Amino acid sequence: MNINDVSWEAELDLKLVESSFNKAIESKKLFRYQFKNAPSFVNLFEKEIRDYVGTDFALGVSSATSAIFLALKATGVTSSSKVLIPAFTFTAVPSAVMQCGAEPVLVDITENYVIDFDDLEAKIISSGAKYLLLSHMRGHVCNMDKVISICKQYSISLIEDAAHALGVKWKDKHAGTFGLAGIYSLQSYKIINAGEGGVLVTEDPNIFWKSVFMSGSYENNYLLHSSEQLDIASQYKNKLPVFNLRMSNITASIATPQVECIESTIKKLNDNYNQLIILLSNNKSISFVPESDSIRPVRDSIQIRILIDEAKRSKLHSKLNSFKIPISYFGGLNNTNARLYKNWQFINTNKYPLQNTVRNLSEVFDLRLPIHFTPEIIEIIAKELLKIIDGI
Ligand SMILES: Cc1ncc(COP(=O)(O)O)c(C=O)c1O
Repeated sequence: MNINDVSWEAELDLKLVESSFNKAIESKKLFRYQFKNAPSFVNLFEKEIRDYVGTDFALGVSSATSAIFLALKATGVTSSSKVLIPAFTFTAVPSAVMQCGAEPVLVDITENYVIDFDDLEAKIISSGAKYLLLSHMRGHVCNMDKVISICKQYSISLIEDAAHALGVKWKDKHAGTFGLAGIYSLQSYKIINAGEGGVLVTEDPNIFWKSVFMSGSYENNYLLHSSEQLDIASQYKNKLPVFNLRMSNITASIATPQVECIESTIKKLNDNYNQLIILLSNNKSISFVPESDSIRPVRDSIQIRILIDEAKRSKLHSKLNSFKIPISYFGGLNNTNARLYKNWQFINTNKYPLQNTVRNLSEVFDLRLPIHFTPEIIEIIAKELLKIIDGI
C-alpha cells in the first residue's frame, strides 16, 4: 500500500449499521411520527444520546445547523439579539445566528484554537451581547470552568456548538452539557456518520419542548416524544412557528449502532492520532496544539503547526495538494476556505481585526483522520508528510 491507495473520504461501516438500517426500511415507516405504539427509530436514537451524554432531553433533527438555530430560538434569541461566537468556527455557525435575524459578534481565539477569555470579556462589555454560542471547533474545548464563570458574571446564556465534539469531555463531563443547550452533528465527517443529521441536548424542559414544536412537531405529535413535563409542553402548543427540521427514521437507524460503540471508536481514533504525533515529532519544525489534562479528547482530525515562513508555507500547501493529501489550510483568504472568518462575506468582517485568529490559523495545517484509518495508513501518511515537509 502507498499514499495513493489511501481513501481519505469518511466511510460508513456497513456491517455495523446494516441490521438497524434494514429494520428501518422493512418497517416501511420513515417519518418519525408514524410510530404510534412503540418508540420510533428517532426516539431510540435520542435515548442512546441521552444515556451517553447524560442529559434529560435529546432531540434529533436534520443537521447541527438546524439544532443550533432551534437552540438559539428556544433560549430567546430574537432579531434584536447579539450572539458571541469564537471567530474560528465553520461558516454555518454565524449563518445560524443570522437565520434568527440576530447579529454574530466575533471573538478572538488563542493558540490552542479556543476562545480568548480576555477578548470574550471585552466583547461582552462592548457589544452588550447576552448569548454565547461556543463552538468547540475540531473538538478543542476551552477551560469550561472559566467560561462558565464569565457567563455567570455577565448573565450570558451559554449554548454549546459541540458539532465536532461528541465524546469530548472536560473533567469527565461531556462537551455539550455545560450550557443551556448543546449540539452535535451527524454529518459524514463527524464521529457519528449518518450522512446528515444533528442533535440538540438539554436539561431544560422549556428549551426541549420549544425545540420539539419548532422542529416540526405539529398537532399531537409532541406526545410521541416524552411523557415528561407535558404541562410545560402544552403551554407551547400552537404558539410557535414550525420550521420542519425533523430527523428521519433512516438517519436514526444509521446513527444508533454507531452511538452504541462510540467508546471503542474513540479509542481507535485516539490511538491513530497518538501514533501520528509520535511519528511526526521527529521533525523539529512541527508542533501540535497543547491541550489541558482536564480534557478527554476525540481525535478525528489533527492540527499540525509548521514553523516556516509565508513563502515556504504556500509552497508546502501546493506540494501537499499535488500529492492529493487533503490537508486544509485554515489561513487561506479565498473562496474555498469556510473556516477563516475573513471569508464570510455575508457579515461585515472589517469590524473584526482579530490578529490572533488570523495568525494562529495561518500557522496550522489540518488533516482529518477518518475512522477507517489503520496503523499502517497512519505510518504511510507520516512518512509522506515528513518527506514533503523536509523537502521544502
Ligand atoms: C463547528 C461546526 N459547527 C456546526 C457545523 C454544522 O454541522 P451540520 O453540517 O451538521 O449542520 C459544522 C459543520 O461541519 C461545524 O464544523
